[in-house]
Amino acid sequence: MSSDPWGKNVLVEFDEGIAWVTLNRPEKRNAMSPDLNSEMLLTLDALETDERCGVIVLTGAGEAFSAGMDLREYFRATDDGPQAKRMQVYRTAATWQWRRLLTYFKPTIAMVNGWCFGGAFTPMAACDIAIAADEATFGVSEVNWGIIPGGNVSKVLSVIMNYRKALYYIMSGETFDGKKAAELGVVTESVPKAQLRERTRAVAQSLLKKNPTAVRQAKIAFKYVDEMSWDESAEYLSAKSDQLRVVDPEKGRAEGMKKFLDDKEYRPGLGEYKRDK
Ligand code: COA
Repeated sequence: MSSDPWGKNVLVEFDEGIAWVTLNRPEKRNAMSPDLNSEMLLTLDALETDERCGVIVLTGAGEAFSAGMDLREYFRATDDGPQAKRMQVYRTAATWQWRRLLTYFKPTIAMVNGWCFGGAFTPMAACDIAIAADEATFGVSEVNWGIIPGGNVSKVLSVIMNYRKALYYIMSGETFDGKKAAELGVVTESVPKAQLRERTRAVAQSLLKKNPTAVRQAKIAFKYVDEMSWDESAEYLSAKSDQLRVVDPEKGRAEGMKKFLDDKEYRPGLGEYKRDK
């Protein structure tokens, strides 16, 4: 019997360094239930040290990326239960959807294949890159049925969206498609659905060719400086750069400089640094 934590609400497929992680409740439009959230948390933990995984692509089975939090199992079933149990269920969701993904050890790409509603904005935005199908439908739909974008969705929108646009969509609950999501900066780009997997795979493969330690330090540094003062940020980035020189087993900085300054075989502005890997 497999000891992998995925297999029911979450599927994982390995493909040349990419781990395709699929939210797998297509009959419920991949609404995120407590069981799915627990499975995702364990899956992310396992993939962090799994050598078959260099990049994660998070997507959804069937027509949806995810219809958000499961209204029946996540909300109604826990609403009147013990507070401690509710908090545990909330914490598990928030941990994988935001905390774990935000500073994940490996690059993460959200591939938004279809419906993306409410709580689904959180893991989508926590991924480093998001690529949507033009035909996908996004909605901060909560106001339509008498609630607010909770979890941490309003906070997520304050990070990824322009102030005026975020308020408009929070207050109107209007939906928008993948093209609009790209225009709004909610996703990195959108492509026709027929090309979505191929394009996502190409982006993932290009990340796999980079120095993984440099990619990791760059993304984590970017995410942390957001809430720092200018002085704190400058000090932190300087320390982070020094740290990179120590923790990078490829010694990419020294190699890159040698190739540019001494060997004259590489110009950073004109092409990819050729690694020996
Ligand atoms: N929570 C719980 N169940 C959900 C769900 C959610 N967020 N979203 C969909 N489902 C369930 C439906 O209840 C239905 O279950 P059933 O077959 O037992 O009746 C099943 O998934 C299919 O949903 P359905 O509405 O029939 O599919 P659709 O393709 O016609 O529409 C959506 C898809 C996503 C547009 C629609 O399901 C929807 O609006 N969902 C709610 C989205 C939302 O506001 N999410 C915010 C939550 S924070």
